[in-house]
Amino acid sequence: MSDTVRIVEVGPRDGLQNEKTPVGVADRIAFIEALLGAGLHTLEVGAFVSPKAIPQMVNSDAVLRGIEHHPEGEFHVLVPNLKGYEAAHAAGARVIAVFASASEGFSRANINCSVAESIERFRPVVARARADGVKVRGYVSCVLGCPFDGEVRPAAVVEVAKALWALGCYEISLGDTIGVGTPRKARHLLRALAGEVPMAHLAMHFHDTYGQALANLYAGMEEGARIIDAAAGGLGGCPYAPGATGNVATEDVVYMLEGMGIATGVDMTKLVAASNAIGRLIGRPPVSRVAAAINAKSRTKAKGG
Ligand code: HMG
Ligand code: MG
Repeated sequence: MSDTVRIVEVGPRDGLQNEKTPVGVADRIAFIEALLGAGLHTLEVGAFVSPKAIPQMVNSDAVLRGIEHHPEGEFHVLVPNLKGYEAAHAAGARVIAVFASASEGFSRANINCSVAESIERFRPVVARARADGVKVRGYVSCVLGCPFDGEVRPAAVVEVAKALWALGCYEISLGDTIGVGTPRKARHLLRALAGEVPMAHLAMHFHDTYGQALANLYAGMEEGARIIDAAAGGLGGCPYAPGATGNVATEDVVYMLEGMGIATGVDMTKLVAASNAIGRLIGRPPVSRVAAAINAKSRTKAKGG
């Protein structure tokens, strides 16, 4: 598999939305700038959602304004409705992401409407965005299982992915929100989607709750998927998805890809430094296995071992 993979770094949004102690604007900007410096150029940096739903993402407008002088970055923000779109657009967002679910239970818990209602809610958002020249990414959550409804049929994922694609989303990101998937399931899902949404426009957004994310990504890559969402240090989770832990760690993805001969352009030392810095702020070291190994190695070196 010697080709290219695009990494979408979601740490500043998915990573920080679940933290008990909200991270302030200056620290969020510093985190984003550290990730840019490490060579990650597509980053999800905030969300224009209800502050009651996700207080951690308040002031996403200030975050966007604080990084707008970085032409090397493509910055994404989540938008659940027209109100969010207006605020995101006013703050200068060039790429937004709407987020639907393949399961009714999570749709209701996360955005307080049915799956069908969410698509209708997004229709005017996508139309407005496209008229304004703003690109729209579409998420489908719970593609490999739902914390409320259990098993999710691939056909349900296909239906929602197709609906978002038909609305005009340029890319569909497949969320294993609670990280319950296994490689055969991931492969089966990608096969079900092939021919329905172009493979080049499908992203894999796998949480690592059960330690399966890398294996699932590899299975998805064997089916031709080439876009990977990941979070520095393995941060992440959704407060509306009970039990969900972090996204697959960007360090782990970069290590695997480089080992496969796929250049990522990411400077691992700088990436681990970015994860360590945010880890100190939130009071937890990175859960990434690769970051932990690199940190252990540098501690040994520092001791002269
Ligand atoms: P609702 O209560 O049905 O909305 O929530 P509403 O329209 O009735 O409004 C209720 C209040 O929220 C009103 O304020 C609105 O003004 C305000 P009040 O009058 O009570 O003071 N409001 C807003 N404020 C700011 N920005 C907005 C906005 N909209 C309404 N855009 C709603 C519906 C969708 C708004 C709410 O449920 C919500 O914000 N949900 C977001 C939840 C969320 O962000 N979850 C995490 C992201 S998704 C995720 O992590 C999964 C993903 O990573 C992929 C994966 O892993 O699967 C993407
Ligand atoms: Mg997520």
